[in-house]
Amino acid sequence: MSIRIVGTGSALPEKQVTNEEIAGLVETSDEWIRERTGIGGRHVSTGETVASLAADACMKALEQAGRKAGEVELLLVATCSPEDALPCAACQVQEKIGAVNAVAFDVNAACAGFLFALHTAWAYVEAGIYENALIAGSEVLSKIVDWNDRGTCILFGDGAGAVMVQKCDTGGVLGFVQHSDGRKGSALFCGNRQLANPYVRPAAADSYVRMDGREVFSFAVKQVPLTIEEALKKAGLTPETVDLFVLHQANRRIIEGIAKRLGVEMCRFPMNLDRVGNTSSAAIPVLLDELNRRGQISRGQVIVLSGFGAGLTCGACVLKW
Ligand code: COA
Repeated sequence: MSIRIVGTGSALPEKQVTNEEIAGLVETSDEWIRERTGIGGRHVSTGETVASLAADACMKALEQAGRKAGEVELLLVATCSPEDALPCAACQVQEKIGAVNAVAFDVNAACAGFLFALHTAWAYVEAGIYENALIAGSEVLSKIVDWNDRGTCILFGDGAGAVMVQKCDTGGVLGFVQHSDGRKGSALFCGNRQLANPYVRPAAADSYVRMDGREVFSFAVKQVPLTIEEALKKAGLTPETVDLFVLHQANRRIIEGIAKRLGVEMCRFPMNLDRVGNTSSAAIPVLLDELNRRGQISRGQVIVLSGFGAGLTCGACVLKW
């Protein structure tokens, strides 16, 4: 038994911001950003929220799957940038789309969050608890990015992607691997509200994303290929047999490094970071939806999804479309 993706959807904020526009905010250039990251632009919210973007993406995934919101049994939202601490974004999406019969909760594993949520849904189905799930990755990172920090504000974008998954007897998810290493938490960090109550004086808070870019870069280039190979081994497959590698869209040079280590040509690594930048947990489902709607994925193809991010976390999933 496994799960199969039966519908995909995505939603991006209306406003697009080019590298040139960012060069008007911090000391950088289109040339530097493109050369070091492959990013040419990103979408930035001027009002869209994690829940509104996720709800849009979810409705599109449901429509493509030919399912009604009321049929959804499990609704997961992967996010590290929810607007509100309570209720969770998944419950807000549930209300917006009318998924009244679903159990809804959030998963936060940063940029690997969508994959961790997908695996959670797989485990619920495998355990016989549910037969379907609607899973979104949604971020409005523009509110936690420091727009004065040229090391990070050039990288991130806002958006959401979603998939509808259904229990299946053959194909679907063939192998899954997840890893977390909390010892490397400071490499990519964003503070939240600090302890403050009648008994504790509040400490100075920094609630913006802080990153050791080189550390994250070398983690990704080393760990992602190992994790993909581990997931492929579980599925009884090798990198040569994979049609498409849909990876977290963080940096073109990271993807090139991963392709090199796996010994696979770059044409099997589709990318959209030129247009959308790094949208954290939304990156994989947004790219998957774009490929799906362009007809670039066909039934029976073997696809590897793999993401990494703050935690540090890393995951890979092998599936037969
Ligand atoms: N524009 C121009 N110069 C910049 C810059 C920018 N946006 N950001 C940093 N620099 C400068 C630095 O200040 C430094 O200058 P110095 O040599 O005078 O000190 C120089 O460029 C090199 O900085 P460095 O941080 O070593 O660059 P890099 O080649 O490692 O590239 C990243 C920086 C962030 C692009 C790269 O480390 C990266 O992509 N890391 C992975 C980050 C990531 O993907 N995070 C999300 C994971 S989910």
